[in-house]
Amino acid sequence: MQSVKIGVLGLGTVGSGTVNVLSRNLQEITGRAGRDIEITHAAVRDLTKETACSTEGISLTDDAMAVVNNPDIQVIVELIGGTGVALDLVTKAIENGKHVVTANKALIALHGNELFAKAQEMGVTIAFEAAVAGGIPIIKAMREGLAANSIEWLAGIINGTGNFILTEMRDKERDFADVLAEAQALGYAEADPTFDVEGIDAAHKLTIMASIAFGIPLQFDKAYTEGISKIAQEDVKYAAELGYRIKHLGIAKKTEQGVELRVHPTMIPHRRLIANVDGVMNAVLVQGDAVGPTLYYGAGAGSEATASAVIADIVDIVRAVTTDPENRVPHLAFQPDALSDTPILPVSEVVTSYYLRVSTEDKPGVLADITRILGEQGISIEAILQKQPEEQGGIVPVIMLTQEVVEKNMDAAIAQIEALETVKDSVMRIRMESLG
Ligand code: NDP
Ligand code: HSE
Repeated sequence: MQSVKIGVLGLGTVGSGTVNVLSRNLQEITGRAGRDIEITHAAVRDLTKETACSTEGISLTDDAMAVVNNPDIQVIVELIGGTGVALDLVTKAIENGKHVVTANKALIALHGNELFAKAQEMGVTIAFEAAVAGGIPIIKAMREGLAANSIEWLAGIINGTGNFILTEMRDKERDFADVLAEAQALGYAEADPTFDVEGIDAAHKLTIMASIAFGIPLQFDKAYTEGISKIAQEDVKYAAELGYRIKHLGIAKKTEQGVELRVHPTMIPHRRLIANVDGVMNAVLVQGDAVGPTLYYGAGAGSEATASAVIADIVDIVRAVTTDPENRVPHLAFQPDALSDTPILPVSEVVTSYYLRVSTEDKPGVLADITRILGEQGISIEAILQKQPEEQGGIVPVIMLTQEVVEKNMDAAIAQIEALETVKDSVMRIRMESLG
């Protein structure tokens, strides 16, 4: 049987990892796929730039569209990133009847609905395992391994760069900018690193996972996104004193009213396994009604870890090209006509408990004012820590953990607290999840 011919678009961190792993493990991979696999063509933007992989035997070009239009190529592996040229190339590849593998979460989260419809029409597959949580096979686990379950919620550390930054800040008290520069040098960060630190990349991934978990169309625009850039060293310290860790979580939860879809810094009890996932590692906790909680852990970014997921997708496609296209696993786990219109809830309707840090003057009655405001909004306090001011008459940080409350009540309470004359700064709030 003839080999399956692959065209790779982009030979950066993930593209070069894909070439390296495929050539190193070719015999085993071929044994699993049942067919020979050959990268015959690759495209880069700048042909004079050195790649981190050998391109021997690969026809290299700076015209990615020529690869997409090459009739000998059956599978296009898109590893350029973004929603500009990558969208044009993937669209054309599908129109040309080629299967597509991509690590591009922005592309899937923003344009997946149209791309999947087009792929369905053309009888081709778009595989995107590497788009979520790097090397962890979370898409396959949810779409296939958990197919028996009604998934209740999932929560994950799904950005390697952000987790690397939070871990280094906590363990080594390193400066935010300095750790981010290291993550960029290691190839973890997105082309625009604000996508990592402001939670946009995690929201792309969460959007994809929520669709697969709950059978809803991709709705990135409805995800609530909050980054890690406002987390101060002192919050990390107070969280630890209270027995918690701050992690940047993506959370998708099915409620009677709709679906919560949110990315934000989150306080998690330190005894939870996921609270101990550090560095570039990712973890996703999925709660199914039948199986209960399941946890998936592994490298969330990096050259070969991500290539592992890209190549697994290539193997799946190579296996499928010899079988009936009607029997392929659906892109979002559910058949397109079985997707539901369960609404995504605005963040004001989300119910969580909170960590609050209020900077107040050291005066009698301040605490009473704050607790009165919280009480009026139906918010009960679970724990309270009042620190000594660093100097006489200085600012006193009051740390509180609350019980669960709907976010709009907390918004109202925070607005009233911030309006108090004795409160000197905006209130720091971190949502809490027991993940029990
Ligand atoms: P890189 O920036 O390292 O690589 C991008 C590659 O695309 C480079 O080879 C670049 O060429 C090439 N390229 C850019 N524009 C064009 C073009 N018009 N035609 C042909 N080639 C082009 O990115 P990554 O490898 O880090 O990321 C690739 C994708 O994988 C992104 O979608 C990213 O989100 C995703 N991803 C990345 C992970 C990681 O750990 N890095 C993990 C999981 C997913 P040149 O260098 O010449 O500009
Ligand atoms: N920039 C992403 C991260 C790459 O740090 O998680 C993996 O998707």
